[in-house]
Amino acid sequence: MAKAQMLFPADFRWGTATAAYQVEGHNTNSDWWLWEQGHILQNQRSGIACNWWANAESDLDAAADMGTNAHRLSLEWSRIEPEPSVFDDHALDRYRQILQAMHNRGIEPMVTLHHFSNPLWLVEKGDFNRQIVVEYFQRYVSKVADVLGDLIPKWITINEPMVYIFARYLGGVFPAPQQMGLRAGLEAAKHMLMCHAAAYEVIKTKYPEAEVGYAKNIPILEAKPGSSFVSKWWTRRMDSLFNGMWLDAVADGRMRTFLGSTKIKGLAGSYDFIGINYYTRFYLRFPPPKTFFETEWTPEAVVSDGNYGEVYPAGLYRAIQRVLKYNKPLYITENGVPDAADRLRPSFLLTHLREIWRAVSFCYPVMGYYHWSLIDNFEWDRGWTQRFGLIELDPATQARHLRRSGELYSKICYRRGISSDMAEQYAPELMATMFPGESPQKVIG
Ligand code: BGC
Repeated sequence: MAKAQMLFPADFRWGTATAAYQVEGHNTNSDWWLWEQGHILQNQRSGIACNWWANAESDLDAAADMGTNAHRLSLEWSRIEPEPSVFDDHALDRYRQILQAMHNRGIEPMVTLHHFSNPLWLVEKGDFNRQIVVEYFQRYVSKVADVLGDLIPKWITINEPMVYIFARYLGGVFPAPQQMGLRAGLEAAKHMLMCHAAAYEVIKTKYPEAEVGYAKNIPILEAKPGSSFVSKWWTRRMDSLFNGMWLDAVADGRMRTFLGSTKIKGLAGSYDFIGINYYTRFYLRFPPPKTFFETEWTPEAVVSDGNYGEVYPAGLYRAIQRVLKYNKPLYITENGVPDAADRLRPSFLLTHLREIWRAVSFCYPVMGYYHWSLIDNFEWDRGWTQRFGLIELDPATQARHLRRSGELYSKICYRRGISSDMAEQYAPELMATMFPGESPQKVIG
């Protein structure tokens, strides 16, 4: 009998994603290294992480064997510029090697310049609380573009600015800034927008053909059904602050918050694509809990390890729809689930890719998918307690093992799509809803 297939365009990027601090190991010049002492769940440490600084190549071999053709990684600013204006040639050489290793394996690099971690010297100078950060960032990006730019076709300037602001300035779970609080956080967000615009200009001047964007975490933010009017109003305010503000600002050059509206020079239109990081839906209420977002879901919700979030695939389609109005190509630059036992990931992959396929079938410009993550890695304040990898890692022995979901993702990459036989083998519980005509019950929905 014919099997159903949802196939993607031939030039679709099938990727995975990582970030420098989470995989390289021993980033001792980063603010996270200091913060790790005493601020990580169960007092865990990143240590050698996934040992990528010594050997990223063997995991890149695995990524190539899996059939991926793209990978998103980040550069660690604190390695490249360990002291102000002092650039480390060995570090830059090592990044060249890693990027070259990717090209050699047919894996196209997408490089993030700032992914949650700062050089210690920058923190001493007030980092994103001070506007001088824009000059520092520009200098760093300029060096990176000069030395590595020929190997980088796709760039992400800043990863998840609003997650960073919330986790650091409000939540207190990321390395403490010199000033905490909403006002300081919004000032930092403004400086991040300026950094983004400056980086865009630097890269495009040197490499007009390069594609440059940002990665924006776009959760679905909703008031719980039956919430009060005030909670609904609050949810809309939070959504426009967390999701809308950054997206609109890079489009039209204006940062708008309840504090007012500021025009930022060089910002309007400073992007070639939007990177969507999508994980979950959050509920909000007023007055807000300490975490801002609720950490409880509805009783029927499927929740991932450590109460990280609800598995809500339709939210990915909604996130895509939300940004269509900007008329830019889209990449899903992160999407994944913490799931040490791999009980959710196979169906997570299939259901989320189906949402992307729906979008692509409507000719919405989704150009690629970068699964978070290739391998279990150091999950920031949650340490090793959250496992996102298609490859399982034992950080103590460094032993690796391809999870079943990794095996499935490999099949997806080779097939360039998803199909009913994959669901049958890896997530039979999906058959009735995803492929009702092929399910034994023949449920037509
Ligand atoms: C971040 C990653 C993180 C992932 C899973 C994103 O917020 O960019 O660094 O590991 O989500 O929580």
